[in-house]
Amino acid sequence: GSKSLQAKLVLLGDMGAGKTSLVLRFVKGQFSEYQESTIGAAFFTQVLSLNEATVKFDIWDTAGQERYHSLAPMYYRGAAAAIVVYDITSKDSFVRAKKWVQEVQRQANPSLTMFLVANKVDLESKREVGNEEGEQYAKENGLSFLETSAKTAHNVNELFFEIAKRLARA
Ligand code: GTP
Repeated sequence: GSKSLQAKLVLLGDMGAGKTSLVLRFVKGQFSEYQESTIGAAFFTQVLSLNEATVKFDIWDTAGQERYHSLAPMYYRGAAAAIVVYDITSKDSFVRAKKWVQEVQRQANPSLTMFLVANKVDLESKREVGNEEGEQYAKENGLSFLETSAKTAHNVNELFFEIAKRLARA
């Protein structure tokens, strides 16, 4: 029969980048323009069935506010996968994302699967970070890269399915 696995997945990134919105789009199929800032961290579960496996995700949605930074290791330690999110309309959020990538690469499990995610692509007219900029950084650092929109659902299921497939293959 097909295998069954449980995987810890963590989302990291600047406040307001859209971490909670991506998770709620994936888990509940919902989006809110008035999503409140996360305090500490939030926990969600979701099961994805692939042909070759069933993957149960334990999802830790961390708080992006700087005052919660010291809690992050609790969530990325032991994680099988990490999603580092930035907002394409904020250069600062891209700078912050690169810092997260470095921290996770230094401290987390070396076999961790990491995605760099450029969110809010529905806001093309306000874009401050080019697609190539994100793609290039991801390539240089051995990460996978996707542009998403939690609002329109663009690439959101694809993101989580891709991670599940990687984990099932490993
Ligand atoms: P913290 O909890 O503070 O770390 O923020 P977060 O990264 O979880 O961001 P959150 O999901 O709370 O979203 C912040 C704001 O951006 C909210 O007003 C969302 O509605 C909005 N937002 C999130 N994703 C998108 C998107 O893809 N497109 C647009 N237009 N807005 C988005």
